[in-house]
Amino acid sequence: MNGKRTPLVLGVLVSGSGTNLQAILDAIREGRLDAKVGVVISNVAGAKALDRARSAEAATLVIDHKSHASREAFDHAVVEALRSHGVSCVVLAGFMRLVTPVLLDAFPHRVVNIHPSLLPAFPGIHAQADAIRYGSRVSGCTVHLVDTGVDTGPILAQVAVPVLDDDDEAKLRERILAKEHELLPTVLKWIAEDRVEVVSRSEGMRPRVRIKLDAVTSPDDAA
Ligand code: GRF
Repeated sequence: MNGKRTPLVLGVLVSGSGTNLQAILDAIREGRLDAKVGVVISNVAGAKALDRARSAEAATLVIDHKSHASREAFDHAVVEALRSHGVSCVVLAGFMRLVTPVLLDAFPHRVVNIHPSLLPAFPGIHAQADAIRYGSRVSGCTVHLVDTGVDTGPILAQVAVPVLDDDDEAKLRERILAKEHELLPTVLKWIAEDRVEVVSRSEGMRPRVRIKLDAVTSPDDAA
């Protein structure tokens, strides 16, 4: 634990099974990630992710996108909920909604997504099937900062996973998911340690993320 840094408070947005949320909760419980889940918000009332959050005694909230007139109105409700729970970093963990500048501007460079391909290959919701259909020999997962595009924001980290001859979508999804569960808490740890920096570059070059190598530690940590 670091005595000086304000602990990272995560707001995790989910729509489904929540295995990545579980990986975050496990990492926190096991002391691998110095953060707190401030709130888990689902746009789907029956999402299994909500049960996982409740089991870990994390606050939960359902905000149904269908009861909001626009994506922006929905995001306003989400931002209000995130703020009221003291959230400093937002994680899209299987959240099946496009987000708008309403959310992105409220948490600049602090909205993170996990995607089951090596971006920029195979953005969108059928990434694993698309990799198999294409005949890729390698796919994987990407954790990136979110911008207004679909799976286009600055890349934080990637892990490659081979595509095997007898892979179907389900098999590849499972093998990629196992890597997602390692990668996402690792990247959140970098953010918690304030080691992530977004670097603007010359025209025609997209912003790049730099991960500062030296962990910021206080003298207390060495003890
Ligand atoms: C993961 O494959 C993630 O990369 C994608 O949606 C899936 C969510 O799975 N964005 P889970 O809900 O975390 O189990």
